[in-house]
Amino acid sequence: MSDHVKLFIPGPVEVRKSILDAQAAWMIGHRGKPFETLYARIQVGLREIFFTKSRVLVSTSSGTGLWEGAARNCVSDDPAGGVLATVCGDFSERWADVFERNGKATTWLTVPHGHAVTPALVREALQARAAAGTVPFEAIALVHNETSTGVTNPLAEIVAVVRELSPETLILVDAVSSLGGVKIDFDGLGLDVLLTSSQKAFGLPPGLSFAAVSDRALAKAATIKNRGYYFDFIELDKFGQKNNTPSTPAISLLNALDRQLADIAIEGVENRFARHAQLAAITREWAQRNFALFAEDGFASDTVTCISNTRGIDIGKLNAYLATQGYHISDGYGTLKGKTFRIAHMADTTADEMRALLAAIDRFLAQ
Ligand SMILES: Cc1ncc(COP(=O)(O)O)c(C=O)c1O
Repeated sequence: MSDHVKLFIPGPVEVRKSILDAQAAWMIGHRGKPFETLYARIQVGLREIFFTKSRVLVSTSSGTGLWEGAARNCVSDDPAGGVLATVCGDFSERWADVFERNGKATTWLTVPHGHAVTPALVREALQARAAAGTVPFEAIALVHNETSTGVTNPLAEIVAVVRELSPETLILVDAVSSLGGVKIDFDGLGLDVLLTSSQKAFGLPPGLSFAAVSDRALAKAATIKNRGYYFDFIELDKFGQKNNTPSTPAISLLNALDRQLADIAIEGVENRFARHAQLAAITREWAQRNFALFAEDGFASDTVTCISNTRGIDIGKLNAYLATQGYHISDGYGTLKGKTFRIAHMADTTADEMRALLAAIDRFLAQ
């Protein structure tokens, strides 16, 4: 058994010891050359994973901070404009709430838990908007991988619909629980904001978040007066161009990121994506054999599997047993607590580790 409880929850995830150790390096000042060198190296690695040649903003916050940043920088306060917020679970609902709490006109497009946001529904919403004769949505917000339901939305197909019907609408994508484990081609898809957190498929401790931001999104931000301060994309980009950050960054976490990016380059991003697909296949096969998948057919996530608790097992008892074996998984989220449970298969997990966890659950089920 391992010397600690290994996390198979969808964030924070298990972080390798070498990454944890990288945080213990001596401090450097963030206004000096060594920091610039570190930041520049990190940019190279991040751009590979985001599939972009342009900037990836680095924020000392969890992903929620960049949710707020996207809301404030990419949508004006004009009540006639606003955002089309697609909602397919608790996290996408929270992002919609973030837009509302920042005073942005928010149109909700909601599908039931377990279902994906479809291109057809987005088409309908955009057509209804056009038929109403109002200005187009300033932005559409989509959570790529809904962590509460284990659903991955068909991003490329939705992007195609938005580009066809509403080309001026910015496309804002939350890939908090998928980026780094699943390929999302920022430049190829022509996205405007693609954001993620450190504590999921990147396999880092919590505390950092990253966002690729298009020139178009920055141009939009320049037209918005009240962008806030800490998550002002223009300011973050201005400093980023000088390999720096507007305020004091979490230097220890950046050291961990630097180390992890080097390891990801050794593994190779395509291999990393293939490993995530393999882990997902192992987990889904087990889930279908013992329970059922919560996600509708064809949309199950490659980073987290949400399992319908068809046998009515006590998830608390399961986790208590797993703790004795050195593992921890997640109960269902919000209203799905008890009805579902979730197993994360992201970051640096290997197929052997995945099988060992599932074997431990099998032992609990056999009791
Ligand atoms: C899909 C999704 N978006 C956003 C968030 C919020 O991110 P953070 O906890 O890093 O603020 C989460 C957290 O689990 C998430 O799963």
